[in-house]
Amino acid sequence: MYKVLMVCLGNICRSPLAQGILEDLAYKNKITLHVDSCGTSGWHVGNAPDQRSIEIAEKHHIDISSQRARKFNTNDFKSFDKIYVMDTSNYTNVIRLCSNKKEAEKVELILKIINQKEGRSVPDPYYGGKNGFENVYKLLYSACEEIIKKIPLDHER
Ligand code: 4NP
Repeated sequence: MYKVLMVCLGNICRSPLAQGILEDLAYKNKITLHVDSCGTSGWHVGNAPDQRSIEIAEKHHIDISSQRARKFNTNDFKSFDKIYVMDTSNYTNVIRLCSNKKEAEKVELILKIINQKEGRSVPDPYYGGKNGFENVYKLLYSACEEIIKKIPLDHER
């Protein structure tokens, strides 16, 4: 089964949403996919997603409330086929932990898949208002639609 990991800093705002959206799209498209998320920091380990992420997901009929934050670890390079990071800082933090080219090639900025021009980072909404979360949702939804289209067929069924 194809396995996708979503990574952000705290694993409470962006990557839980990315996980929820991709799981939902996989289900709706009848694609068997394993999706997980984590943070490069351990600041929120064991915590549920931020209430604002839970609410924006709920608004789109996705339940992410049972997710719990965990920290990225080097086993993730082996366990997952693809590792999508939310911003350039996440990218640096993950890449510095990889031990070979094969592992490094699994890591990609998630917005690269939709050719997002402005910096190619999903903005960190943690210190902002609710609009930030709506924007994050829209960006991640567009990216996840493309991810679903690109799941290699030999993994899919
Ligand atoms: P996330 O957002 O990386 O999208 O989960 C953040 C969550 C928490 C913090 C920063 C960003 N923090 O500083 O605690």
